[in-house]
Amino acid sequence: MSPLSITRNLPADATAAALRADVAQGLSATPKQLPPKWFYDARGSDLFEEITTLPDYYPTRAEREILLTRADHIAAATNARTLIELGSGSSDKTRHLIGALSGLHTYVPVDVSESALTAAGEALLAGHPGLTVHALVADFQQGMALPETPGPRLLAFLGGTIGNLLPEERAAFLTSVHDLLSPGDALLLGTDLVKDEATLVAAYDDPQGVTAAFNKNVLQVINRELDGDFDPADFDHVALWNAAEEWIEMRLRARRDMTVKIPGVDLAVPFAAGEDIRTEISAKFRQEGVRAELAAARLELTNWWTDSAGRFALSLAFRA
Ligand code: AVJ
Repeated sequence: MSPLSITRNLPADATAAALRADVAQGLSATPKQLPPKWFYDARGSDLFEEITTLPDYYPTRAEREILLTRADHIAAATNARTLIELGSGSSDKTRHLIGALSGLHTYVPVDVSESALTAAGEALLAGHPGLTVHALVADFQQGMALPETPGPRLLAFLGGTIGNLLPEERAAFLTSVHDLLSPGDALLLGTDLVKDEATLVAAYDDPQGVTAAFNKNVLQVINRELDGDFDPADFDHVALWNAAEEWIEMRLRARRDMTVKIPGVDLAVPFAAGEDIRTEISAKFRQEGVRAELAAARLELTNWWTDSAGRFALSLAFRA
């Protein structure tokens, strides 16, 4: 067998059907909302990569600092022979960890984007010719079957993306992670941390306007895929800190009264001036909350590492 294989867990039309369902439901609801996963077409993925280089967007750099300083410890603590990475994208974050895991046999990148998986898999194999890469095209929220690979296994979910899930979705997600793991396997989880409001809001409302373009890109995805007639200029990018929930909300706020037609889902969506679509939550965490959410899924937190500025954390947790 070739060292790079790809398994599709998603039917070819699943993405289109899921987008239609999310748009039909979310834009008929009060208040209006759209799931953040639809940001990431090719342009949205490029804009996100650009966000990670902005001075105000600290999470990517903070997490990279932790991965660089702790990779050897993670390798020694887990002895992982299989590394599974959810939402692997370009696999950039993981390259150093893969280098540190001396007993690594198989890398299983999981992403909804097949093109990202192929490119990342080929790039990785060039540097690690002995590695087996078994890429999986799957939506981790829909439940997935993992290939049979040697243990111990380390499942990584980095970047703080767990913060995009609502608390009840996080509980369901962590339970499914528990069920995918065997005793002695581990989860490596990246979480952004609660901090002062100004720092948080600046990370989601940069003066360069890249996050605004990223947020508005979802309207262009709907226009292209569902023949919508959104004019992105009719919406303002809004980032606000919800102190009660301890999450950042991104919204698109209508600048005028209007009705937007979306023939692909047979919808005419009325907007009042000032009305919002919530396009993302990005929850921020504290150690005790992460420990409790892991414990509720029978995952035991053994290590908590932050960057030197204390902005972001990596947690290592084991299935008992
Ligand atoms: C990729 C989900 C971790 O929530 O910080 C960046 C996405 N949104 N700027 C985050 C995002 C706006 C990002 N995650």
